[in-house]
Amino acid sequence: MCGIVGYIGDHQAGPVLVQSLEKLEYRGYDSAGVCTNDGQKLIVEKEKGKLKELKKATDDGKKVQGTVGIGHTRWATHGEPSKINAHPHLSSSGSFAVVHNGIIENYMELKHELSANGISFHSSTDTEVIAQLLEYHYNGDLVDTVIKIMPLLKGSYALGIMYREAPDKIIAVRKGSPLIIGIGENENYLASDVPAILDKTRKIYRLAANEIAVIKRDSITVYDTDKNVVEKSAETIEWSMDAAEKDGYEHFMLKEIMEQPKAVYNTIIERIKDGRVVLDEIHLTAEQIKSFEKINIVACGSAYHVGVVAKYIFEKILRKPVEVNVASEFKYSDPIVDEKTLTIVISQSGETADTKEAMYEAQRKGSYTIAVVNVVGSAIAVEANDVIYTLAGPEIAVATTKAYSAQLAVIYMLAIYFGDILGKINQEDYRNYVSELLALPEKIKLILNKAEDIKNTASKLFARKDVFFIGRNIDYALSLEGSLKLKEISYIHSEAYAAGELKHGTISLIEKGTLVIALTTYEDLHEKTCSNIKEVQSRGAYVLGIGCENMQLLVRSADSTILIPKTCDIMLPSLAVVPMQILAYYIARFKGCEIDTPRNLAKSVTVE
Ligand code: F6R
Repeated sequence: MCGIVGYIGDHQAGPVLVQSLEKLEYRGYDSAGVCTNDGQKLIVEKEKGKLKELKKATDDGKKVQGTVGIGHTRWATHGEPSKINAHPHLSSSGSFAVVHNGIIENYMELKHELSANGISFHSSTDTEVIAQLLEYHYNGDLVDTVIKIMPLLKGSYALGIMYREAPDKIIAVRKGSPLIIGIGENENYLASDVPAILDKTRKIYRLAANEIAVIKRDSITVYDTDKNVVEKSAETIEWSMDAAEKDGYEHFMLKEIMEQPKAVYNTIIERIKDGRVVLDEIHLTAEQIKSFEKINIVACGSAYHVGVVAKYIFEKILRKPVEVNVASEFKYSDPIVDEKTLTIVISQSGETADTKEAMYEAQRKGSYTIAVVNVVGSAIAVEANDVIYTLAGPEIAVATTKAYSAQLAVIYMLAIYFGDILGKINQEDYRNYVSELLALPEKIKLILNKAEDIKNTASKLFARKDVFFIGRNIDYALSLEGSLKLKEISYIHSEAYAAGELKHGTISLIEKGTLVIALTTYEDLHEKTCSNIKEVQSRGAYVLGIGCENMQLLVRSADSTILIPKTCDIMLPSLAVVPMQILAYYIARFKGCEIDTPRNLAKSVTVE
């Protein structure tokens, strides 16, 4: 999704802005631009396409003069990717420049009103409206003007604003999309995400919703919408620069796949004490936990797939009904949730607009919310009733891998924790679950050691046009993730089906050479899935089976197999997902795809 950067200090701003934008490339974008103030005028440079085009046009930023500036990478929403639609956008007289993440939902209305007052527009974006509004309403005081236009803007936004006559400051404001301010020595920074400024400073302020910051070279003042000064406490970013670098790997995605043992280990280790799962983050009493009649899970994409796995696990162990909702649908479906419903919100970024809205909807209906989030201090983490952080470290590749695995680890812990309180787990099972949980990182490593074999399998399969992932029960939940991973980075059409459902229509698509990836890690349903393998093979499919080491029937049934170590039923997804991630990665690599930033996708989707 779009990225914002800003700099004010003693150095030339252009090169700093370009370097910071490079650090945000992972978020996905289709054009980029910078604006600086040389003391007399605002200078804007922007280009369609990758950052290298902007770097070429500006000689790595050196051509734009001035020691204050803002920059942007744009992921098109309103208006095609083009130089004109790229940010920063200027107001008519060139006095205001704006970079914007998010969407202004009522921009057509505002554009119409401004046009009626004689203002002409140059781009098709919603953002230009903000620059024009600022100029139109400017009353001699920047903060007052920003406060005045905020209620006019419907939707979500994070803004970096510059005013020609005020070369000593950048104004930042947010409602919805995240913004951070990096604190330096005689220089300060603005960014939509930490990696942009991590090589410059580790001390940051996170701007909360409806806060306005005036960022100068030697001061940062934050206001609320009544223009009261807000005292902010600085946060120190603990993770290292290496975490945001490729560390010798060709792609972030491969690095992050390989980091999964650590991500799972870090997520569980501080939460298992003397053989017990201890979730101090949850403030619910045992009585409250017992009082819930149902569990509601809201999330998007891969996080939603974790939710589907969770449904099987919670229902199996807790014997309570679980609903998993695609977050974008939830709010608009008049959902049946109330104070007797526990809502679990799953999100890597903690900023996904659909998930956030779904959480608010659940809260409005009286439901208690527990968020499972990776990014510390993100909106969902802050606004949920409780938050359990996944400790996966920063995830840079657009396609999630290690955050998915860390989210699963939290789900297992929640199942064990609730199961114990509800009296649904006997002590022997409890011990077994905990010991299998602790063994997961090492078992994941065993699968990672097979990466070369999986690469070899990928080399034989990358030219396929259609792929079906099938599985039953928890393997079906997992096949959803396998299919998404493959299609999002390799652009191969792929679908996930409950293995028994395929024959009710979709099997008509199976023909000679169709690739079917059959997941059958769940012992109880292994034979049934092997029958489904035979069904598709007899219609010409080539079947790659993924199952556990002891599954001889699978080895005999499938055309080729990838076998994973055994663990307890509920934790099989943590192992089975790994070969699917590696397979998707190498298939995409053999196809020459841009793996870390797949087309049309963004890391954090902050628009509904
Ligand atoms: C797929 C992927 C997305 C995200 C989804 C939710 O690889 O990464 O499907 O899972 O956009 O994002 P978060 O977890 O940040 O809410």
